Amino acid sequence: MRTIELFCGAGGMSLGFQRAGFDLVQAYDAWEPAVANYRANVGKHAWLHDLKDVFTVGPMLAALQPDIIIGGPPCQDYSVAGKKIEGENASMTRAFAMYLSIARPQWFVMENVRQARKSKAWADARAMMKAAGYGLTESVLDASWYGVPQTRKRLFVVGRLGERDDFLASALVSARSDRQTVISDALDLPERYVYSRPFRDGRGVRSVDEPFPSVMRTAAERPRPRYLNSPHPDDPIPATEAAVLTRDQLARIQGFPENWVWPVGTDRNIHQMIANAVPAPLAEAVGGVILARQAGETIPTIEGGFLQWLRRSCGRSAQSSWNTKSQCNRARRLLGGKTFTSLALEIEALEATEAFRAMTTRTQSDLRSALRLHAEWLAEKVERRAARKKAATLRAAA
Ligand SMILES: C[S@@+](CC[C@H](N)C(=O)[O-])C[C@H]1O[C@@H](n2cnc3c(N)ncnc32)[C@H](O)[C@@H]1O
Repeated sequence: MRTIELFCGAGGMSLGFQRAGFDLVQAYDAWEPAVANYRANVGKHAWLHDLKDVFTVGPMLAALQPDIIIGGPPCQDYSVAGKKIEGENASMTRAFAMYLSIARPQWFVMENVRQARKSKAWADARAMMKAAGYGLTESVLDASWYGVPQTRKRLFVVGRLGERDDFLASALVSARSDRQTVISDALDLPERYVYSRPFRDGRGVRSVDEPFPSVMRTAAERPRPRYLNSPHPDDPIPATEAAVLTRDQLARIQGFPENWVWPVGTDRNIHQMIANAVPAPLAEAVGGVILARQAGETIPTIEGGFLQWLRRSCGRSAQSSWNTKSQCNRARRLLGGKTFTSLALEIEALEATEAFRAMTTRTQSDLRSALRLHAEWLAEKVERRAARKKAATLRAAA
């Protein structure tokens, strides 16, 4: 897929998507050291450009005809470590949505801190994405379940034109590894414990058999007197006896490979670029999930609630409910895993497939009716969700 990355930083996310098999044709960032390091490691397709300049960049992106746009707009305005005032940085989330509306790639991936979801900027961006015709999957992914030795939890919004919301959520969950990746998986340290400056009153010392906490710019700082005077009660050993990771070791924890170089930037800048990155193994996993769906190799899982609804609300037997569910799955396989914004479109697409046309009239009617029931259940679910939200708002106002 022809891929463009916006807000590419030093290239963690690009590296992961490249490894998954995406063709990075252009990447943009306004920070000179980040672009220089990107060019030294990922490729010469990174450009220094201010993405506020929608009038110039918009037509450039449209002309490149990307299949997918990826990127993590700046998060300082939302981040728990920041002041949480929505300013120019938050507006870059809106700019991301504007670029999608202009270039209209089939797919997009936007990464940000979890707190972004509660922002006005995200509400505006989301509305633009919906108006542009994207189905959205909004998932918080913990990097430690995707090959990264770090409990980094980030919001990933994956969009695809014409899909129902949540179309990729189950596939992202299925892509998780069997166990969390831990520090000792990535680093061969002589010490058994490491220190990382905790956020607020968090724990500072961790065993190498645990994942590292989310890497921040200050992760290589030694314990300060304030922490030493009031250590976390769960620290397994005193913080002074634990190892403090070097910049290179932190880069490994953030998924940068051993041969990665940092030719440009002050030490502080480089720590910032490392902390900013989407760890490449996590990006690679998300990219792999997208490619598998694009190739029709996966289908969205039908939630258990559908079976219960068939039994309780439609009076179906357990066997008949199972049959309906497997007919839904069969129809979805014929549709290459694609979901649709309306039942009419879904059935039209199903009827256009050769395999469907080759089926007996009876099987065709079973598949149509299974999709119809599933759509009914989804509509009821959406209504129930809206009613719950309204009740919660009324309760909060009372
Ligand atoms: C969270 S970092 C992205 C990290 C990147 N995804 C990675 O994996 O390495 C956000 C980036 O947005 C860039 N940025 C902020 N404002 C910008 C603007 N107006 N135009 C272009 N880039 C900008 C910053 O320089 C920073 O590198």
